[in-house]
Amino acid sequence: MKLESVTKTFGNSEAVIDLSLKIPKGEIYGLMGANGSGKTTTLKLIVGLLQPDTGEIWVNGVNRLEHAAEARKLLGYAPEAPYLYDYLSGEDYLRFVGQIRGLDNRALVREVDDLLKFFRLDRDKNELIRNYSYGMKKKISMASALIADPDFLILDEPVEGLDIFMVKALKKRLLRLKDAGKTILLASHVVPLLTEICDRIGILRRGKLIREIKSETFHNAENPVLLEMLYEEAIAQAELAIP
Ligand SMILES: Nc1ncnc2c1ncn2[C@@H]1O[C@H](COP(=O)(O)OP(=O)(O)OP(=O)(O)O)[C@@H](O)[C@H]1O
Ligand SMILES: [Mg+2]
Repeated sequence: MKLESVTKTFGNSEAVIDLSLKIPKGEIYGLMGANGSGKTTTLKLIVGLLQPDTGEIWVNGVNRLEHAAEARKLLGYAPEAPYLYDYLSGEDYLRFVGQIRGLDNRALVREVDDLLKFFRLDRDKNELIRNYSYGMKKKISMASALIADPDFLILDEPVEGLDIFMVKALKKRLLRLKDAGKTILLASHVVPLLTEICDRIGILRRGKLIREIKSETFHNAENPVLLEMLYEEAIAQAELAIP
């Protein structure tokens, strides 16, 4: 997955500025940065919910802007705030998404079943989504990103609102997907998530990528460095350059 000099402005505010990212197959890449630094905008540009002003985006060699539908098929996306259908049950919603993603009936039943179990929603699968708690909605949204096993996952605040067991299970699952060759781009404020599963972390500040950190830097057994420290240092340096 590749972004080249992507810029996105809203009116006269610049949300993403000249952003270039290259994420090889089988990597988990985490975006971090202050509220409003451009993480969600970046993810929306990749999945096609927003169009960049300038720049290019490729997903598996497919140009996202020229072949939007083809690129979209390769992606599973879980947005920051889950937008779902209130009057469908969790199970029906997942079936609906699986059908759109082209699963045949047998695969659909199997995958929806597996995801409902994994997300511990099997007891509530027939309840309407409007009656779900926030975390339950977030789980359905995550499940819909995983359905049909897409090669690229775009996850916005994936563990926000999830309970402790769920976070642990999800981290494990994402690492398994990575081992199976999937490429994952996520945005999060949750330091343990970033440090435990990401191969690289990019720090955004006011729409600009100011630093990329490899996991070796904070997993270095002899000289461990806290991600918070690296983050604060990167921000302080950027502030000196452009206050
Ligand atoms: N639809 C929109 N219209 C106008 N401005 C927007 C829109 N979406 C985002 N922005 C602006 O773009 C900037 C980046 O927002 P974005 O949602 O990408 O931040 P973020 O890094 O995801 O923040 P958070 O950590 O709070 O989720 C902000 O200044 C925001 O106000
Ligand atoms: Mg956001």
